[in-house]
Amino acid sequence: MYSEKVMDHFMNPRNMGEIENADGVGTVGNAKCGDIMRIFLKVEDGVIQDVKFKTFGCGAAVATSSMATELVLGKTIQEALQVTNQAVMEALDGLPPVKVHCSLLAEQAIHAALWDYAQKHGIEIEGREPPVDDIEELEELAEV
Ligand code: FES
Repeated sequence: MYSEKVMDHFMNPRNMGEIENADGVGTVGNAKCGDIMRIFLKVEDGVIQDVKFKTFGCGAAVATSSMATELVLGKTIQEALQVTNQAVMEALDGLPPVKVHCSLLAEQAIHAALWDYAQKHGIEIEGREPPVDDIEELEELAEV
């Protein structure tokens, strides 16, 4: 059911934990499954120097958070914003259809943390809407 990569990131999550005095923190949840994800960012000169996550959720949520942190580490804010849930899923060699929303939670948690960073540092994020707290609505819009 799950790819080897998903199992690996679930059993050995990368970048799990939190960052004290993080430059950006984003928390999102999905009311339907009750899972919550929090992302912490350390940013220097516009580049993500460190990223950590805490996920209170299913195995796929842990694996997608782990992979999402790997994908944004070392990236600029703009580059990190391009990391979609599709990219996270591809990097994990796919997810079962009922678990696609878990990757959306990871994408939105990263975006929420980037948004928080931008707000705190007076940076404009072009063309981005403020993040949502609950992805359930977004999920319905995206029909995932
Ligand atoms: Fe909801 Fe995985 S079941 S995030």
